Amino acid sequence: MRVLGIETSCDETGIAIYDDEKGLLGHTLYSQVKLHADYGGVVPELASRDHVRKIVPLIREALASADTRLEDLDGICYTKGPGLIGALLVGACVGRSLAYAWNLPAVGVHHMEGHLLAPMLEDDAPEFPFVALLVSGGHSMLVKVDGIGRYEVLGESIDDAAGEAFDKTAKLMGLDYPGGPRLAKLAASGLPANYKFPRPMTDRPGLDFSFSGLKTFVANTIAAEPDDEQTRANIARAFEEAVVDTLSIKCRRALEQTGYKRLVIAGGVSANLRLRAGLGELMQKLGGKVYYPRGEFCTDNGAMIAYAGLQRLKAGQIEDLAVKGQPRWPLDTLPPV
Ligand code: KG4
Ligand code: ZN
Repeated sequence: MRVLGIETSCDETGIAIYDDEKGLLGHTLYSQVKLHADYGGVVPELASRDHVRKIVPLIREALASADTRLEDLDGICYTKGPGLIGALLVGACVGRSLAYAWNLPAVGVHHMEGHLLAPMLEDDAPEFPFVALLVSGGHSMLVKVDGIGRYEVLGESIDDAAGEAFDKTAKLMGLDYPGGPRLAKLAASGLPANYKFPRPMTDRPGLDFSFSGLKTFVANTIAAEPDDEQTRANIARAFEEAVVDTLSIKCRRALEQTGYKRLVIAGGVSANLRLRAGLGELMQKLGGKVYYPRGEFCTDNGAMIAYAGLQRLKAGQIEDLAVKGQPRWPLDTLPPV
Protein backbone atom coordinates (compact mmCIF):
# COMPACT_ATOMS: atom_id res chain seq x y z
CA MET A 1 0.00 0.00 0.00
CA ARG A 2 1.31 3.44 -0.96
CA VAL A 3 -0.04 6.70 0.45
CA LEU A 4 0.36 10.43 0.21
CA GLY A 5 0.70 12.23 3.55
CA ILE A 6 -0.17 15.91 4.02
CA GLU A 7 0.69 17.99 7.09
CA THR A 8 -0.58 21.57 7.41
CA SER A 9 -1.60 21.94 11.06
CA CYS A 10 0.63 24.91 11.90
CA ASP A 11 3.51 26.66 10.11
CA GLU A 12 5.03 23.82 8.10
CA THR A 13 3.72 22.35 4.85
CA GLY A 14 4.95 18.74 4.87
CA ILE A 15 4.27 16.19 2.15
CA ALA A 16 5.44 12.57 1.94
CA ILE A 17 4.96 9.36 0.01
CA TYR A 18 5.13 6.24 2.19
CA ASP A 19 4.92 2.63 1.06
CA ASP A 20 4.40 -0.10 3.65
CA GLU A 21 6.80 -2.43 1.84
CA LYS A 22 9.43 0.00 0.58
CA GLY A 23 9.28 2.60 3.37
CA LEU A 24 9.56 6.33 2.85
CA LEU A 25 9.90 7.06 -0.87
CA GLY A 26 10.05 10.83 -0.86
CA HIS A 27 9.16 13.87 1.19
CA THR A 28 9.17 17.65 0.95
CA LEU A 29 8.89 20.31 3.61
CA TYR A 30 8.38 24.03 3.50
CA SER A 31 8.78 25.99 6.72
CA GLN A 32 7.02 29.34 7.13
CA VAL A 33 9.43 30.48 9.84
CA LYS A 34 10.59 33.58 7.92
CA LEU A 35 7.01 34.64 7.24
CA HIS A 36 6.08 34.70 10.95
CA ALA A 37 9.44 35.85 12.38
CA ASP A 38 8.54 39.58 12.27
CA TYR A 39 5.47 38.91 14.42
CA GLY A 40 7.28 36.80 17.04
CA GLY A 41 4.88 33.87 16.55
CA VAL A 42 2.58 32.15 14.08
CA VAL A 43 -0.11 34.39 12.53
CA PRO A 44 -2.91 31.90 11.69
CA GLU A 45 -4.33 33.69 8.65
CA LEU A 46 -0.90 34.12 7.07
CA ALA A 47 -0.18 30.45 7.77
CA SER A 48 -3.37 29.32 5.96
CA ARG A 49 -2.62 31.49 2.92
CA ASP A 50 0.94 30.24 2.67
CA HIS A 51 -0.20 26.61 2.85
CA VAL A 52 -2.54 27.37 -0.08
CA ARG A 53 0.38 28.76 -2.07
CA LYS A 54 2.78 25.92 -1.35
CA ILE A 55 0.77 22.73 -1.05
CA VAL A 56 0.25 21.77 -4.72
CA PRO A 57 3.85 22.45 -5.89
CA LEU A 58 5.12 20.49 -2.87
CA ILE A 59 2.84 17.52 -3.66
CA ARG A 60 4.12 17.54 -7.25
CA GLU A 61 7.71 17.67 -6.02
CA ALA A 62 7.21 14.85 -3.49
CA LEU A 63 5.54 12.62 -6.08
CA ALA A 64 8.40 13.25 -8.53
CA SER A 65 11.09 12.55 -5.91
CA ALA A 66 9.29 9.29 -5.03
CA ASP A 67 8.95 8.39 -8.71
CA THR A 68 5.23 7.99 -8.07
CA ARG A 69 2.19 9.10 -10.07
CA LEU A 70 -1.13 9.95 -8.43
CA GLU A 71 -2.60 6.79 -9.99
CA ASP A 72 0.03 4.69 -8.16
CA LEU A 73 -1.41 5.79 -4.80
CA ASP A 74 -3.71 3.64 -2.66
CA GLY A 75 -4.78 6.33 -0.23
CA ILE A 76 -4.45 9.88 1.07
CA CYS A 77 -3.72 10.87 4.68
CA TYR A 78 -3.96 14.46 5.90
CA THR A 79 -3.72 16.04 9.35
CA LYS A 80 -7.25 16.66 10.63
CA GLY A 81 -6.28 18.10 14.04
CA PRO A 82 -5.34 19.36 16.53
CA GLY A 83 -4.01 22.61 15.12
CA LEU A 84 -5.01 25.93 13.55
CA ILE A 85 -8.39 25.49 11.88
CA GLY A 86 -7.61 27.49 8.71
CA ALA A 87 -4.30 25.69 8.23
CA LEU A 88 -5.89 22.29 8.84
CA LEU A 89 -8.65 23.00 6.33
CA VAL A 90 -6.12 23.64 3.54
CA GLY A 91 -4.65 20.14 3.93
CA ALA A 92 -8.07 18.56 4.45
CA CYS A 93 -9.53 20.27 1.32
CA VAL A 94 -6.64 19.30 -0.92
CA GLY A 95 -6.38 15.77 0.49
CA ARG A 96 -10.12 15.17 0.22
CA SER A 97 -10.30 16.64 -3.30
CA LEU A 98 -7.46 14.47 -4.59
CA ALA A 99 -9.09 11.42 -2.99
CA TYR A 100 -12.43 12.29 -4.61
CA ALA A 101 -10.91 12.95 -8.03
CA TRP A 102 -8.84 9.76 -8.01
CA ASN A 103 -11.41 7.65 -6.17
CA LEU A 104 -9.03 6.85 -3.35
CA PRO A 105 -9.77 6.20 0.33
CA ALA A 106 -8.72 9.02 2.65
CA VAL A 107 -8.30 9.46 6.36
CA GLY A 108 -7.86 12.44 8.70
CA VAL A 109 -4.86 11.87 10.98
CA HIS A 110 -4.33 13.05 14.56
CA HIS A 111 -1.23 15.26 14.52
CA MET A 112 0.05 14.00 17.90
CA GLU A 113 -0.43 10.38 16.86
CA GLY A 114 1.77 11.28 13.89
CA HIS A 115 4.48 12.56 16.26
CA LEU A 116 4.06 9.54 18.54
CA LEU A 117 4.60 7.10 15.66
CA ALA A 118 7.42 9.07 13.97
CA PRO A 119 10.14 6.82 15.51
CA MET A 120 8.55 3.97 13.50
CA LEU A 121 10.09 5.58 10.39
CA GLU A 122 13.57 4.66 11.69
CA ASP A 123 15.41 1.35 11.25
CA ASP A 124 15.61 0.90 15.01
CA ALA A 125 11.86 1.28 15.63
CA PRO A 126 10.43 0.61 19.09
CA GLU A 127 8.11 -2.32 19.73
CA PHE A 128 4.90 -1.89 21.74
CA PRO A 129 4.31 -1.31 24.58
CA PHE A 130 6.16 1.86 25.51
CA VAL A 131 5.85 5.15 27.33
CA ALA A 132 5.83 8.18 25.03
CA LEU A 133 6.88 11.67 26.03
CA LEU A 134 5.28 13.99 23.47
CA VAL A 135 6.79 17.46 23.65
CA SER A 136 5.80 19.89 20.92
CA GLY A 137 4.95 23.56 20.62
CA GLY A 138 1.28 22.99 21.41
CA HIS A 139 1.24 19.89 23.61
CA SER A 140 3.23 18.13 26.31
CA MET A 141 2.09 14.76 27.54
CA LEU A 142 3.15 11.38 28.82
CA VAL A 143 1.26 8.55 27.18
CA LYS A 144 1.06 4.82 27.92
CA VAL A 145 1.11 3.24 24.47
CA ASP A 146 -0.01 -0.39 24.13
CA GLY A 147 -0.52 -0.31 20.36
CA ILE A 148 -1.74 2.03 17.63
CA GLY A 149 -4.75 3.87 19.01
CA ARG A 150 -4.35 2.22 22.41
CA TYR A 151 -3.32 5.32 24.32
CA GLU A 152 -3.74 6.31 27.93
CA VAL A 153 -2.68 9.87 28.76
CA LEU A 154 -0.81 9.57 32.06
CA GLY A 155 -0.03 13.26 32.48
CA GLU A 156 0.06 16.55 30.58
CA SER A 157 1.00 20.17 30.92
CA ILE A 158 -1.48 22.20 32.92
CA ASP A 159 -0.23 25.45 31.32
CA ASP A 160 2.49 25.99 28.68
CA ALA A 161 3.63 23.11 26.50
CA ALA A 162 7.38 22.36 26.69
CA GLY A 163 8.05 23.92 23.26
CA GLU A 164 5.93 26.95 24.18
CA ALA A 165 8.01 27.35 27.37
CA PHE A 166 11.19 27.28 25.27
CA ASP A 167 9.75 29.79 22.79
CA LYS A 168 8.42 32.22 25.44
CA THR A 169 11.62 32.04 27.49
CA ALA A 170 13.68 32.61 24.34
CA LYS A 171 11.56 35.71 23.61
CA LEU A 172 12.30 37.01 27.13
CA MET A 173 15.99 36.57 26.34
CA GLY A 174 15.62 38.61 23.16
CA LEU A 175 15.93 35.65 20.78
CA ASP A 176 13.93 35.52 17.55
CA TYR A 177 11.04 33.14 16.82
CA PRO A 178 11.10 30.15 16.87
CA GLY A 179 13.10 30.42 20.06
CA GLY A 180 13.45 26.75 21.09
CA PRO A 181 16.40 25.82 18.87
CA ARG A 182 17.98 29.27 19.32
CA LEU A 183 17.79 29.02 23.11
CA ALA A 184 19.33 25.53 22.91
CA LYS A 185 22.19 26.93 20.84
CA LEU A 186 22.82 29.74 23.34
CA ALA A 187 22.66 27.24 26.24
CA ALA A 188 25.45 25.20 24.63
CA SER A 189 27.95 27.94 25.56
CA GLY A 190 26.45 28.38 29.04
CA LEU A 191 28.36 27.28 32.14
CA PRO A 192 26.73 24.81 34.49
CA ALA A 193 25.95 25.38 38.16
CA ASN A 194 25.67 29.18 37.96
CA TYR A 195 21.95 29.12 38.59
CA LYS A 196 19.56 26.54 39.98
CA PHE A 197 16.05 26.95 38.63
CA PRO A 198 13.01 25.15 40.09
CA ARG A 199 11.83 21.74 38.83
CA PRO A 200 8.08 22.50 38.79
CA MET A 201 5.65 19.95 40.23
CA THR A 202 8.30 17.32 40.98
CA ASP A 203 7.91 17.61 44.76
CA ARG A 204 4.46 16.06 44.69
CA PRO A 205 3.11 12.85 43.17
CA GLY A 206 1.57 12.79 39.70
CA LEU A 207 2.63 13.03 36.08
CA ASP A 208 1.32 16.47 35.07
CA PHE A 209 3.75 19.25 34.15
CA SER A 210 3.75 23.02 34.57
CA PHE A 211 6.23 25.34 32.89
CA SER A 212 4.81 28.86 33.25
CA GLY A 213 6.38 29.42 36.70
CA LEU A 214 9.79 28.53 35.31
CA LYS A 215 9.39 31.20 32.65
CA THR A 216 8.63 33.80 35.35
CA PHE A 217 11.69 32.62 37.29
CA VAL A 218 13.82 33.23 34.20
CA ALA A 219 12.28 36.70 33.72
CA ASN A 220 13.16 37.64 37.31
CA THR A 221 16.69 36.27 36.94
CA ILE A 222 17.26 38.24 33.72
CA ALA A 223 16.07 41.43 35.44
CA ALA A 224 18.44 40.89 38.40
CA GLU A 225 21.58 39.88 36.51
CA PRO A 226 24.04 41.76 34.23
CA ASP A 227 23.13 41.89 30.55
CA ASP A 228 26.12 40.21 28.90
CA GLU A 229 26.35 37.29 26.51
CA GLN A 230 27.91 34.81 28.96
CA THR A 231 25.29 35.52 31.63
CA ARG A 232 22.52 35.03 29.09
CA ALA A 233 24.07 31.73 28.01
CA ASN A 234 24.34 30.62 31.65
CA ILE A 235 20.66 31.45 32.22
CA ALA A 236 19.67 29.60 29.03
CA ARG A 237 21.62 26.57 30.19
CA ALA A 238 20.02 26.60 33.66
CA PHE A 239 16.56 26.85 32.05
CA GLU A 240 17.26 23.98 29.67
CA GLU A 241 18.61 21.83 32.51
CA ALA A 242 15.51 22.55 34.60
CA VAL A 243 13.19 21.48 31.76
CA VAL A 244 15.22 18.34 31.00
CA ASP A 245 15.43 17.38 34.66
CA THR A 246 11.70 17.93 35.20
CA LEU A 247 10.79 15.84 32.15
CA SER A 248 13.26 13.16 33.16
CA ILE A 249 11.78 12.87 36.69
CA LYS A 250 8.28 12.53 35.19
CA CYS A 251 9.42 9.94 32.63
CA ARG A 252 11.02 7.88 35.36
CA ARG A 253 7.77 7.94 37.33
CA ALA A 254 5.74 6.93 34.27
CA LEU A 255 8.12 4.04 33.55
CA GLU A 256 7.96 2.86 37.16
CA GLN A 257 4.17 3.14 37.16
CA THR A 258 3.74 1.13 33.96
CA GLY A 259 6.70 -1.23 34.40
CA TYR A 260 7.67 -0.52 30.75
CA LYS A 261 11.30 -0.44 29.64
CA ARG A 262 10.97 1.51 26.39
CA LEU A 263 10.66 5.28 26.21
CA VAL A 264 9.78 7.17 23.03
CA ILE A 265 10.32 10.92 22.77
CA ALA A 266 8.76 12.83 19.91
CA GLY A 267 7.54 16.29 18.92
CA GLY A 268 9.66 19.37 18.22
CA VAL A 269 11.40 19.47 21.60
CA SER A 270 12.65 15.89 21.13
CA ALA A 271 15.20 17.46 18.75
CA ASN A 272 16.83 18.98 21.86
CA LEU A 273 20.22 17.33 22.38
CA ARG A 274 20.36 17.87 26.14
CA LEU A 275 16.92 16.23 26.49
CA ARG A 276 18.03 13.25 24.39
CA ALA A 277 21.21 12.87 26.43
CA GLY A 278 19.36 13.21 29.75
CA LEU A 279 16.76 10.62 28.85
CA GLY A 280 19.43 8.34 27.37
CA GLU A 281 21.22 8.43 30.71
CA LEU A 282 17.97 7.72 32.56
CA MET A 283 17.18 4.69 30.41
CA GLN A 284 20.68 3.35 30.86
CA LYS A 285 20.21 3.56 34.63
CA LEU A 286 16.84 1.82 34.37
CA GLY A 287 18.11 -0.89 32.02
CA GLY A 288 15.82 0.25 29.21
CA LYS A 289 16.10 2.14 25.95
CA VAL A 290 15.11 5.49 24.53
CA TYR A 291 13.86 5.94 20.95
CA TYR A 292 13.41 9.13 18.95
CA PRO A 293 12.97 10.13 15.31
CA ARG A 294 15.81 11.59 13.25
CA GLY A 295 16.10 15.37 13.70
CA GLU A 296 13.99 16.39 10.69
CA PHE A 297 11.07 14.16 11.81
CA CYS A 298 11.01 15.52 15.38
CA THR A 299 9.36 18.72 14.18
CA ASP A 300 6.29 18.76 11.92
CA ASN A 301 6.56 16.76 8.69
CA GLY A 302 4.48 14.82 6.18
CA ALA A 303 6.22 11.48 6.71
CA MET A 304 4.77 10.90 10.17
CA ILE A 305 1.27 11.70 8.87
CA ALA A 306 1.67 9.30 5.93
CA TYR A 307 2.89 6.56 8.28
CA ALA A 308 0.13 7.02 10.88
CA GLY A 309 -2.59 7.36 8.22
CA LEU A 310 -1.45 4.27 6.35
CA GLN A 311 -1.89 2.16 9.51
CA ARG A 312 -5.47 3.39 9.82
CA LEU A 313 -6.33 3.01 6.12
CA LYS A 314 -4.95 -0.53 6.20
CA ALA A 315 -7.31 -1.26 9.10
CA GLY A 316 -10.23 0.02 6.98
CA GLN A 317 -10.65 3.26 8.90
CA ILE A 318 -11.80 5.39 5.96
CA GLU A 319 -13.66 8.66 6.38
CA ASP A 320 -16.63 10.05 4.47
CA LEU A 321 -16.31 12.82 1.88
CA ALA A 322 -16.89 15.78 4.18
CA VAL A 323 -13.96 18.18 4.60
CA LYS A 324 -13.37 18.42 8.34
CA GLY A 325 -10.77 19.90 10.63
CA GLN A 326 -10.73 19.32 14.37
CA PRO A 327 -8.73 22.00 16.23
CA ARG A 328 -9.24 20.23 19.59
CA TRP A 329 -9.03 16.47 19.62
CA PRO A 330 -8.06 14.46 22.73
CA LEU A 331 -5.53 11.75 21.78
CA ASP A 332 -7.14 9.07 23.91
CA THR A 333 -10.43 9.22 21.98
CA LEU A 334 -8.84 7.60 18.90
CA PRO A 335 -10.06 4.11 18.01
CA PRO A 336 -7.60 1.21 18.26
CA VAL A 337 -6.16 -0.38 15.12
O1 KG4 B 1 6.17 19.47 16.95
P1 KG4 B 1 6.48 20.84 16.47
O2 KG4 B 1 7.28 20.99 15.21
O3 KG4 B 1 5.18 21.66 16.26
C1 KG4 B 1 4.03 21.47 17.05
O4 KG4 B 1 3.30 20.48 16.82
O5 KG4 B 1 3.87 22.32 17.95
O6 KG4 B 1 7.23 21.57 17.68
C2 KG4 B 1 7.71 22.86 17.57
C3 KG4 B 1 8.32 23.25 18.92
C4 KG4 B 1 8.65 24.73 19.00
O7 KG4 B 1 8.16 25.22 20.22
C5 KG4 B 1 10.17 24.75 18.96
O8 KG4 B 1 10.73 25.85 19.61
C6 KG4 B 1 10.52 23.45 19.65
O9 KG4 B 1 9.55 22.54 19.15
N1 KG4 B 1 11.88 22.99 19.33
C7 KG4 B 1 12.88 22.90 20.24
C8 KG4 B 1 14.02 22.46 19.53
N2 KG4 B 1 13.68 22.29 18.22
C9 KG4 B 1 12.35 22.61 18.12
N3 KG4 B 1 12.90 23.16 21.55
C10 KG4 B 1 14.06 22.98 22.20
N4 KG4 B 1 15.19 22.57 21.61
C11 KG4 B 1 15.23 22.30 20.28
N5 KG4 B 1 16.37 21.88 19.72
ZN1 ZN C 1 3.79 19.03 15.80
